[in-house]
Amino acid sequence: MGKTTTAINLATALAATHRRVMIIDMDPQGNASTGLGLATAARSQGSYKLLMGDATPREAARPTAVANLTIIPAGVDLAGAELELVAEMGREFRLREALKGQLDGIDYVLIDCPPALGLLTLNALVAAHAVMVPLQCEFFALEGISHLVKTIDRVRQVFNSTLEIQGIVLTMFDRRNNLSDMVAADVRGYFGSKVYNTVIPRNVRVSEAPSHGKPVLLYDLKCPGSQAYLHLAGEMIRRENGMAA
Ligand SMILES: Nc1ncnc2c1ncn2[C@@H]1O[C@H](COP(=O)(O)OP(=O)(O)OP(=O)(O)O)[C@@H](O)[C@H]1O
Ligand SMILES: [Mg+2]
Repeated sequence: MGKTTTAINLATALAATHRRVMIIDMDPQGNASTGLGLATAARSQGSYKLLMGDATPREAARPTAVANLTIIPAGVDLAGAELELVAEMGREFRLREALKGQLDGIDYVLIDCPPALGLLTLNALVAAHAVMVPLQCEFFALEGISHLVKTIDRVRQVFNSTLEIQGIVLTMFDRRNNLSDMVAADVRGYFGSKVYNTVIPRNVRVSEAPSHGKPVLLYDLKCPGSQAYLHLAGEMIRRENGMAA
């Protein structure tokens, strides 16, 4: 949990540092599109057309209220895509093919995945360089992530030999709850430096923002959730530049 929230707010924080960022909403629920304020009418012709080879990323992208941030939205049409793709050749490579050579001038593409491991998620994993894993600090966290690690290994073997885990970010952290601390210590013990130092706290402002169609950074810049996502972007950029986090 926390995938869509992290996609929206990490993207916003990166865009605030003048990087050009694109979100691709690959979830038929369209939560990233809603959370960035896109009206239903503005959502067709998005990721569905991209997958079907009927639009380029540039044609499918829409501006957002955040400078330097665009989104390829998910409309109701995307819900049928998994079934439509099942019988197609190269069905796992549709997104990768659609993006190939089309991302000049864009620094980061963040793909928001649906909850289930279907063809849409698989397309995202095949197209991606790396996976950012938001991890909720709850009892079954390690179990969930070891399943995800196996999935990533399998995708790497079969479809995308360079896929890696970009990082793990602990989210919905509740410092009044001892379990959060225990889970965080376990995850850090197991995954070491793959885990970001930045922790995203449980913060009601973060959960309110999407109903206003805004990233939390625009809704309440000073709240702990916004500050944490700014820190996360900073830590990510420093890591990429090979600097100590
Ligand atoms: N740091 C946070 N503090 C409080 N609420 C949060 C926080 N992060 C996420 N939430 C809330 O938790 C819920 C689930 O988060 P989110 O939608 O980001 O998860 P998801 O992984 O995208 O879920 P799904 O698999 O259904 O797409 C949302 O209602 C969101 O507003
Ligand atoms: Mg989501």
